[in-house]
Amino acid sequence: MISGDTGCGKTTQVPKYILEHGQANNQEANIICTQPRRIAASNIAKRVAVELGERVGHKVGYQVGMESRASPDTKIMFMTTGIFLMRLVNNPDSLAKYTHIIMDEVHERDLDTDFSLVVLKHLLGSKEEGTLNFKLILMSATFNTELFANYFSRSSIAKIEDTEVYEGVEEQYRKEEAERELKLQKEWGRAEPGAWDKLANEKEHA
Ligand SMILES: Nc1ncnc2c1ncn2[C@@H]1O[C@H](COP(=O)(O)OP(=O)(O)OP(=O)(O)O)[C@@H](O)[C@H]1O
Ligand SMILES: [Mg+2]
Repeated sequence: MISGDTGCGKTTQVPKYILEHGQANNQEANIICTQPRRIAASNIAKRVAVELGERVGHKVGYQVGMESRASPDTKIMFMTTGIFLMRLVNNPDSLAKYTHIIMDEVHERDLDTDFSLVVLKHLLGSKEEGTLNFKLILMSATFNTELFANYFSRSSIAKIEDTEVYEGVEEQYRKEEAERELKLQKEWGRAEPGAWDKLANEKEHA
């Protein structure tokens, strides 16, 4: 279970960390990340693909409703919780290749999420019978971790501390800003405030 303030990077970073860890250690990583809403599932997939320097549909894919963007190379698959529950119930074998199942926004307690958790608990409890062999990760900014921990008896809770995250981000942002300003000043000399962005923009589209 991972809880951390909104915006700290649970949805966009955790699947990437798992993938990178797998690649670094020569371990298979095939990740599903569920989202209660369609728009979130497709938008986040696009964002994570961009962060990996790709377009969506290659290493990062999504499935929402009848729309699917994925390939045999897809390692991080975002999907709505509704689609996930349908696959879990109707075709659990199609989930056999996944090593990690991340259920995001579990605090929402919608029917799809709650039913998925019931089925997943059952599957985790009877691993020897089934073909599914995965790690289950629950994420949310605001959820009663104790409640979920008690439901899944084997569990660990990770809390992302906000202060560390934000301090790091701000420091990095200021450093990058300063470097950018310096580079632009060297290229174009002094200019009025805001002119740097304008010039950079013009240069990019020239
Ligand atoms: N498409 C995007 N373009 C630019 N920045 C983005 C995009 N999507 C997310 N971010 C930024 O990346 C950071 C991490 O976002 P992320 O969605 O992973 O946070 P989160 O911990 O899942 O938050 P929440 O609890 O609200 O779901 C945030 O600062 C967010 O503003
Ligand atoms: Mg999120």
